[in-house]
Amino acid sequence: MKENQYFVTVNNKRFHYIWLRDNCLSEESRHPSSFAKLYDFSEEKEIPKPNSVKLTDEELIIDWDEDPPHRSIFPIEWLMTYAYDRHQNDHNGKHKEAQSRYPEELLWNKALLENYLSEWENFGSGVSQGWKDRLFRFGFSLIHDLTPQEHQDFLASIGPMLHTEAGSFYDIEYKSGANDLADTCHHLDPHTDYTNRDYPHLLTCFYMVKNESIGGESILVDGFRVARDFGEKYPHYFRLLAQTPIQFRQFYQDWQYFYTRSRSIFKLHDSGDLVAITFAHFHANNWNLPFEQMEEFYQAYATFFNYLKNPDYQYCFRMEKGDCLLMNNNRILHGRKSFDLSSGSRLLRVGYLLWDHITGRDNFQQYKDLYMSK
Ligand SMILES: [Fe+2]
Repeated sequence: MKENQYFVTVNNKRFHYIWLRDNCLSEESRHPSSFAKLYDFSEEKEIPKPNSVKLTDEELIIDWDEDPPHRSIFPIEWLMTYAYDRHQNDHNGKHKEAQSRYPEELLWNKALLENYLSEWENFGSGVSQGWKDRLFRFGFSLIHDLTPQEHQDFLASIGPMLHTEAGSFYDIEYKSGANDLADTCHHLDPHTDYTNRDYPHLLTCFYMVKNESIGGESILVDGFRVARDFGEKYPHYFRLLAQTPIQFRQFYQDWQYFYTRSRSIFKLHDSGDLVAITFAHFHANNWNLPFEQMEEFYQAYATFFNYLKNPDYQYCFRMEKGDCLLMNNNRILHGRKSFDLSSGSRLLRVGYLLWDHITGRDNFQQYKDLYMSK
């Protein structure tokens, strides 16, 4: 252990005293059951100073120069988990943002995905352990043979549903005078959902209640794979689609809502990494772009759209009754082929969960020992 006026070093990691005092684990500084921070460093006149610092094999113990006296005890395991003093190559897996700890994304096209499909068939029916792993790696997970009740119970075990205009679930089926193109027999090009709303990152959940019609095969596209290939071949177009917000709109007659939102098709992290795709051609209209940009933007948009429509990137399959399909709405675009209504009915139940419920549950399992006594 090394000390100076401002920090202490434990296992070659430096910790500022202000950081340690701010993150004190005592009941006076952090509420014991909600774990909410109670200590407010902005009320201190000076940077917290220790009277004594002691390091054992298990703990760092600091008695602070305060009135009344205050002691902080930090388990070494806790300190190493949250250590922030690291070099660029010194990865601290647990303290990274949640997303980066999950199985690495495997960016797929049709040929690559087909290598995994036979492996998936061995998973059989019902909810198996691997569903979440596949969701992170491939952006979607397909589960077979759930009853409607099993489907509801499964989603409820993940988190509360985000309500649609129709309630917890929206039933997609042919409706006369449809308010949504999905409620027709039309072909639907690959798209992400809720392009026209200011919603957070969603998990899209499909459940096939019945599928007796001819046609209507589902189409999935890995938007991250398409974006990578598109960006390598057309870097200028990629930049244009990342930097130009366009309008996505939806006019609902029956519910009397007109949703409109401006968003670029590619959302990039500060690092330049792609984090989300927003795309639904049937909602992309009446763009309000500068006159000089319009023609070039159309070229970039059409080039990208043709990538999405290229069968080499599309996984097409028939969803059967009882199938449950979960998709990362920031990555996977979904669509369907047209179907023949006279051949039988088709009812697809759609619901949405917050992606935070996926990552939050996973984080809970991983971190709970740092908060709750074993
Ligand atoms: Fe959709």
